Amino acid sequence: MAETKTYPVMHNKNAYITEANYSELYARSINDRDNFWGEQAEKYITWFQKWNQVMTGDFENFNVEWFVNGKLNACYNCIDRHLAKKANQIALIWQGDDPKESLTFTFAELHEKICRLANVLKKEGIKKGDRICLYLPMIPESLIAMLAIARIGAVHSVVFAGFSAEALQNRILNADCRMVITANEGLRGNKIIPLKENVDAAIQHCPKVSKVIVVKRTDQAVSWDATKNIWYADALAQASADCPCESMDALDPFFILYTSGSTGKPKGILHTLGGYLVQVAMTHQLIFNYEAGDIYWCTADIGWITGHSYLVYGPLCNGATTLMFEGVPYYPTPSRFWEIIDKYQVNIFYTAPTAIRALRHEGDEWVKKTKRTSLKLLGTVGEPINPEVWEWYYHTIGNSHCPIVDTWWQTETGGIMISAYPFATPLKPGSAAWPFFGVVPQIDSLGNLTLQHPWPGMMKTVYNDPERFKEYFKNNAYQTGDNARYDDDHYYWITGRCDDVIKISGHRIGTEEVESAFLTDEAVSEVGIVSVPDEIKGEAIYAFVTLKQGVTPTDDLKKQLIHAVRQSIGAIATPKYIQWADGLPKTRSGKIMRRLLRKIANNDVSDLGDLSTLADPDIVKKLISERLTSI
Ligand code: WTA
Repeated sequence: MAETKTYPVMHNKNAYITEANYSELYARSINDRDNFWGEQAEKYITWFQKWNQVMTGDFENFNVEWFVNGKLNACYNCIDRHLAKKANQIALIWQGDDPKESLTFTFAELHEKICRLANVLKKEGIKKGDRICLYLPMIPESLIAMLAIARIGAVHSVVFAGFSAEALQNRILNADCRMVITANEGLRGNKIIPLKENVDAAIQHCPKVSKVIVVKRTDQAVSWDATKNIWYADALAQASADCPCESMDALDPFFILYTSGSTGKPKGILHTLGGYLVQVAMTHQLIFNYEAGDIYWCTADIGWITGHSYLVYGPLCNGATTLMFEGVPYYPTPSRFWEIIDKYQVNIFYTAPTAIRALRHEGDEWVKKTKRTSLKLLGTVGEPINPEVWEWYYHTIGNSHCPIVDTWWQTETGGIMISAYPFATPLKPGSAAWPFFGVVPQIDSLGNLTLQHPWPGMMKTVYNDPERFKEYFKNNAYQTGDNARYDDDHYYWITGRCDDVIKISGHRIGTEEVESAFLTDEAVSEVGIVSVPDEIKGEAIYAFVTLKQGVTPTDDLKKQLIHAVRQSIGAIATPKYIQWADGLPKTRSGKIMRRLLRKIANNDVSDLGDLSTLADPDIVKKLISERLTSI
């Protein structure tokens, strides 16, 4: 691969990490691990009781534990401890979908609301360890709810509000949630999302959900079951604003977040409290070089790990002002992001390559209407960023004076694992650059990226499924599922997934989930899902579908199948291409050869490799000749 150019380090007198101290700190984080992490834990987190061991266990025995016997509370660290000095500082800026609608909350105001909601939860019988599902739009109440749950030691499972009722139901059941917090409706790009309706449909089959708390986001009436439903505002008004923080063990479950794997249903990644909080507070400060007074904006939805770690917990732990945006980048116009940056004088901006690609595609005139002079630093996450898109972000958005941190990490890792340090790393467009402290990446002979040592923010287990947790480890290393390369200058380049996980607009989707969704339609006999590159979304779904005997392939049927996928997963998994297939290439033992389907969909058929194991080689020829070039 041709090397791209390198941008020299921009010096900053307020840089925490510099070219001079990086190597020394990194070496300490590996060679003197316990002392290094002990110091970080003391620096970033307030503990009710100090741990008596920094780390125990290993990957081989699946029993890593961090900050053993330490006691703390996440809400205390994010809110209460800032009250002495920052009670009146704005903690949360909320920008509504409608440009005219916005709100701010000081730390004191958040504290009051969180305490009231925490008391409502307690009154409803929620106890330490109980799971509560959040199915909420990007509104202040979602952040308040996460922190109220953390305050009383319950466990949140946030489900992205773009998931369907069926997907929501599966997640509620898997986590055995006792309660759901939602809104009557959501609002994105002036479109309505029927959240309460979806919750009602989902919980019909969830007998253990006793209550649904509903935020009134719009004026729309919704169906109401007075025995189960509670209006958020009414309940808060009646609750006391005094609620002590529960003292939690560092190893207590903190939250569950579902994400897709290579096979099977989505898995509930379980994070425990102490290590996660240390990791996200530290990475938020060092990777974004966050300084007191900075206005920080992460565009991720709270339904994903980036929203958890870098919209809520990391920034608030550090006493930052965090911005939450309800809407979408192109409503009312494609200037929206840049207007928000100017309006609030945002200093640090963190988004996904897919958003940058989409906005670049709209043309520079939308950017040129704005100044963006407040920006000091830009970040990306979620998928590889193409060097030309990186250059556009750097020059056109950042006015060529903001370093870009391309941060590689995963739901499972909790926090950023590989990234540039903004004022220490010469930047190479498209490379995630250097390992974070304590992270030891290695690339095996197949190009698979593995991590060798435990780090504090790593998941504790897969909820209800310890066997799937074990699948992450091989040869005493954590298997990331990504491919990567390492260049002569010691930079890491993440090239994409090595398994059957697809990233569509940065959202993680498992091919098997999409296949199951197709199979819910009676007309479908067999289906093979692969990904193809997409200029804006990064990847798109290409489906090879074999219909049952006697079913006629029609465009209406395609629509019906797309509907089935949206029904069972959500709009994010909408297939872009559906090719009818008389048969799918299979081995003689009946296994679908996805490797071949991938090559056919990507028009990469000059070398199809060994076809001798194929049951019926003619099928491949036919599929190639019928490959779709447009929808
Ligand atoms: C991909 C998102 C390239 C990768 C935080 C990973 C990236 C998956 C980057 C995790 C990056 C994330 N460059 N690829 N900077 N960041 N990825 O769990 O494939 O939603 O395994 O977490 O996103 O997705 P997840």
